Amino acid sequence: MTDKPTILPTVQSEASKAGTSPSKTLQAGTLQAKAGPQNPVLLAGRFPADFVFGVATAAYQIEGAARVDGRRPSIWDAFSKMPGRVHDGDTGDIACDHYNRLEQDLDLIQSLGVTGYRFSIAWPRIVPEGTGRINEKGLDFYDRLLDGLNARGIKAYATLYHWDLPLTLMGDGGWTARSTSYAFQRYAKVAMARLGDRIDAVATFNEPWCSVWLSHLYGVHAPGERNIEAALAALHVTNLAHGLAVEAIRHVAPNVPVGLVLNAHSVIAASDGAEDKAAAERAFSFHNGVFFDPVFKGDYPQDFMAAYGDRMPVIEAGDLAIISQRLDWWGLNYYTPMRVAHDASPEAAFPAVTGAPPASDAKTDIGWEIHAPAMGSLVETLYARYELPQCYVTENGACDNTGLVDGVVDDRMRLDYYWQHLSVTADLIGKGYPIRGYFAWSLMDNFEWAEGYRMRFGLVHVDYETQARTIKASGEWYRALASAAAG
Ligand code: FCB
Repeated sequence: MTDKPTILPTVQSEASKAGTSPSKTLQAGTLQAKAGPQNPVLLAGRFPADFVFGVATAAYQIEGAARVDGRRPSIWDAFSKMPGRVHDGDTGDIACDHYNRLEQDLDLIQSLGVTGYRFSIAWPRIVPEGTGRINEKGLDFYDRLLDGLNARGIKAYATLYHWDLPLTLMGDGGWTARSTSYAFQRYAKVAMARLGDRIDAVATFNEPWCSVWLSHLYGVHAPGERNIEAALAALHVTNLAHGLAVEAIRHVAPNVPVGLVLNAHSVIAASDGAEDKAAAERAFSFHNGVFFDPVFKGDYPQDFMAAYGDRMPVIEAGDLAIISQRLDWWGLNYYTPMRVAHDASPEAAFPAVTGAPPASDAKTDIGWEIHAPAMGSLVETLYARYELPQCYVTENGACDNTGLVDGVVDDRMRLDYYWQHLSVTADLIGKGYPIRGYFAWSLMDNFEWAEGYRMRFGLVHVDYETQARTIKASGEWYRALASAAAG
């Protein structure tokens, strides 16, 4: 997610092949000395024996093969081809060419010593027009992926929607149209009926905050809409689609734990003053509550409804019961805190907040503040406010654009980021929070949405000219951690 506003705008404002070559100098023997105090073996000892260390990706960001085997375009294929939407006009047409390099990439995942792989299934490969025709060749690809994971003893964590809505559905209004939630339910049913027997856990959506607010209010992600009514419609239709998919999954694959992945925001008030604290509460409602409340409490937040209830789409009787079905787990994606101050301007719309400066200059190469304690307080706040099931950290990681020099990527900032956030994760487990696993974002450098290929989040470097994969220093460190944890 790029240009993802780190300083959150008010509602009115318009927010922003070759082979695998492990790096030469960072083999296991030298790792401990190189990593200094960030000893991966000691860190591994702070996690329970059954804790899952994994890596994560998403279909459009890595697969490529956009026109192959019956896949039809998604809204991201269209959006990325519009001038000015994605940095340098990059698209996911080829990406990491993962579709054609599946076996090699599965070997790469295995070589990292991880026990879990989080990936997303591309709706436009399975039901290419969104409704109607089912594409067997698309299902075959995920058959091969799942069989490959199972053969390597790696658990499969699938996400059904990581932002690639079949483009045809835009003709009906995309996520603003209630009909899209029923189309999603059917896709979920088709995918899970065929693939569910080899999936260890499934998430309906990845980060609805991005596919709702960032895509329909701030205009940064596909379809690039900037309209509060469209955003409110997308909000309810997405929440409903989540609930309908939970029903479908429990029907066709009752043994697969179902969850939802949320990029919960750690909202920090700029000061202890009453106005800033009230602003932080409103920001919590707008950025977290509109997803957590309906799913875990069966209602939209009151302050949010007082501000926008009259512009919300029709909420039909029974919708909230569908949305609030019990989940088996939830996923936290965390990168950076959200600092907010009260926006006193009379025209400021709810939540009437402006961004506040970071606590320090520490930031990743995409400009996001590094502040690991906010991840800990976020988890504590969420478990205090909601009755949440067990949790996986489904994404966490850093953009560090350190390049390849003499066959090595010495990405110290990323390594340090992982160390800090995994330490916080271990602290949370120590306090009794039910965190069952952690997935590094990402397995490899990939198409970073509106930022295109210039922002790199991988544990593995990708040379987009040759498609060569090179494990970075952080990847070697993560391998040492995951291997030590796996015993
Ligand atoms: C998350 C997205 C993921 C990636 C990371 C950096 O919001 O889920 O696809 O873009 O940010």
